[in-house]
Amino acid sequence: MNFTINQKHITEAAKECLVVGVYHQPQFDGELKELDHSFEGYLTSLVKDGDISSKSKKLSKIHTFGKISSKRILFVGLGKKKELTFDLLKEAMGLASKELKNMKVSSFSVALDTFSSEELPAADSAHAFTEAFTMATYQFEGYKQKSNEPEIYVDSIEFLTGEDEKEVKTALEVGAAFGRGVNSARTLVNTPGNLLTSTKMAEYALELAERYDFEAEILDKEEMENLGMGALLAVNQGSVEPPKMIVLKYSGKDEWKDVIGLVGKGITFDTGGYSIKPKDGIVGMKTDMGGAAAVLGAMEIIGETKPEQNVVAVIPSTDNMVSGSAFKPDDVITAMSGKTIEVLNTDAEGRLALADGMSYAKHHGANYLVDVATLTGGVIVALGEDKTGALTNNEAFFEQVLEASGESGEFIWQLPYTEHDKKRVRSSKIADLNNSPGRAGHAIMGGAFVGEFAEGLPWVHLDIAGTATTKSSYDLGPSGATGVMARTLALLVERFEPLEK
Ligand code: BES
Ligand code: ZN
Ligand code: ZN
Repeated sequence: MNFTINQKHITEAAKECLVVGVYHQPQFDGELKELDHSFEGYLTSLVKDGDISSKSKKLSKIHTFGKISSKRILFVGLGKKKELTFDLLKEAMGLASKELKNMKVSSFSVALDTFSSEELPAADSAHAFTEAFTMATYQFEGYKQKSNEPEIYVDSIEFLTGEDEKEVKTALEVGAAFGRGVNSARTLVNTPGNLLTSTKMAEYALELAERYDFEAEILDKEEMENLGMGALLAVNQGSVEPPKMIVLKYSGKDEWKDVIGLVGKGITFDTGGYSIKPKDGIVGMKTDMGGAAAVLGAMEIIGETKPEQNVVAVIPSTDNMVSGSAFKPDDVITAMSGKTIEVLNTDAEGRLALADGMSYAKHHGANYLVDVATLTGGVIVALGEDKTGALTNNEAFFEQVLEASGESGEFIWQLPYTEHDKKRVRSSKIADLNNSPGRAGHAIMGGAFVGEFAEGLPWVHLDIAGTATTKSSYDLGPSGATGVMARTLALLVERFEPLEK
């Protein structure tokens, strides 16, 4: 995608379409007033008659009949100026982007300053636009023999602005990087389990490492055995696909300290194992590596934006299969940390994989931990499909995650985590932990189990079982994988401030 920034006049947008933001206001001012002049005041009438709407997220399209150099104008309703948020702006721009894609234009101009306000300066609207455009026009290629070609129409976007060009340019690039990070995560999640094996995911991570100069380490089964990663290995036991522990390190500081560990559940397919899933529940379980995808998407954004932070990304990856060698309910296994686990349910495999992932992140010097996982159906029952559930052992660290999520627009909701919950995951009669203490507080149990492996470090757990995919299309993308948490994690890293000890 080719972005240019021009200072030229809104009426000189020599493109197929001009995109203009309209706030709810009694009268046009600024650039819109000038535009109205070119139409001899007819735009004002069109607004009065409701043909151009300033209602939030309403689109209106007009032909310009040669009154200005652009053939069409797409008006994007923004509602009341005071009520517009960064989030809402992105949604409106996402909708506009979808419309531009439908229009099959190859180039268009965005009157950037018409989208800006005191609270949202040009740099913010620039970031919002490229992020929204990149996300909203995403399409998974799929595997059909016919029409396998992605429908790419737009090849250049011109941004008209009177504001500082350099600042706007950086913001455009950052926004696009955020969008691409999300889209990469989506593609990983949309890819079927036979095509995205743990080996393939490791290869993908190595490609990222090469591109962004990350340090990388991929542990194979033998190395895991030597390190005593009995929890991840147990999940892999029934599989013919080798497991991988994937590690990427980004070091943006002189010293390897204040390291944020991002641990993503990388189950490439979850059959449930011997606690097998019913035939309806098993479909869609290719998405059980949504946490890994979020972490890899975030690492891509981090690779592009290069914040002054240290990050270690850890992805324990395998599929969860059934065979004569598979692990079974009642088995007792030993995790890397030394903790023993009674397996009561082989379908609670994510927390087992994450247990060793957490320990390995610590091994690599992580001082703060965030795990992201499609962990429980329970989180969907508790919060629905549009909210990510969170658990923490450190409110101050959680506050930073919450702020990042507020900025990304990816809603998260904290679940309680009490001593009673800890007791329940420690309730096995024969082992330190039990991986499935019953149906009550399901989502909390999943998180609480993972928390046992934070061992005193500030930790936040994000359960994205509901949010990693969506059944219907939305303002910022199609149905299918959402790439959720890639942006939140990247923003958390960017804004991160070490806690006072
Ligand atoms: N991968 C599933 C959770 C899941 C469910 C993700 C629906 C996406 C959509 C996870 O491994 C699982 O099966 N969890 C069980 C845990 C239970 C057996 C303790 C669950 O939530 O039912
Ligand atoms: Zn499972
Ligand atoms: Zn799972």
